[in-house]
Amino acid sequence: YKRITTKSLIEMKANGEKISMLTAYDFTMAKIVDTAGVDVILVGDSASNVMAGHETTLPITLDQMIYHASSVVRAIERALVVVDLPFGSYQSDSKEALRSAIRIMKESGAHAVKLEGGKEIKDSIKKILNAGVPVMGHLGLTPQSIYKFGTYTVRAKEDAEAEKLIEDAKMLESVGCFAVVLEKIPAHLAQKVAESISIPVIGIGAGGHVDGQVLVIHDMLGMNNEFSPRFLRRYLNLYESMTTAIGQYVTDVKSKDFPNEKEQY
Ligand code: KIV
Ligand code: NA
Repeated sequence: YKRITTKSLIEMKANGEKISMLTAYDFTMAKIVDTAGVDVILVGDSASNVMAGHETTLPITLDQMIYHASSVVRAIERALVVVDLPFGSYQSDSKEALRSAIRIMKESGAHAVKLEGGKEIKDSIKKILNAGVPVMGHLGLTPQSIYKFGTYTVRAKEDAEAEKLIEDAKMLESVGCFAVVLEKIPAHLAQKVAESISIPVIGIGAGGHVDGQVLVIHDMLGMNNEFSPRFLRRYLNLYESMTTAIGQYVTDVKSKDFPNEKEQY
């Protein structure tokens, strides 16, 4: 695939090729993620936590998401760029949802949007899709509803919630979403959903029997030591490498080792 499109992702599922997805929020990181061959880059509202230091995803604004998304779009040559509609930009009614999605598409140049929720936001999803904007769904643990649930623990362990999740996933497929993220639900339930719909299911903490995986880039690179859920695999310990490197810089400045003769004009 030269450039990944929503169609390529649906083809990948049909061909049994797993989809790789990571977050990015800025130009430099997005360039690295794109060059490394990641299929989908998510400008997640996790930027609220990771970039801005908020405790939840609720405070980040639409303007801030557009700033992150436009920075990412300028770096991309291959990946599909999906942007989260932030909390408060789509829950009032479907007109507000469409306005927010259009602002993201026009002002950032991204390729698709992601919204959290099932049948509660069906009208909004349909309205955005009708305008020609591809929509990715997001079910299971939906961090924008954290104060309704109270905790970040595994979702849909009970039958009623699992049934609703399956119905919501089928609804997202039927209205025309091109993919759906399932966050932190039992692996067997995620597998059941992936087998019962034809659009790709991208999991985070949802096991291996889905059509792709997504992680927050700062988590998988080990840039923060505090967040250690079971589903997280750390590929680097950048927190340690970076503090060591920066500590060395401080030492070199203090000891007048930096800059040396060759490092000046
Ligand atoms: O905002 C985000 O990073 C996300 C992923 C965890 C799916 O929504
Ligand atoms: Na998100």
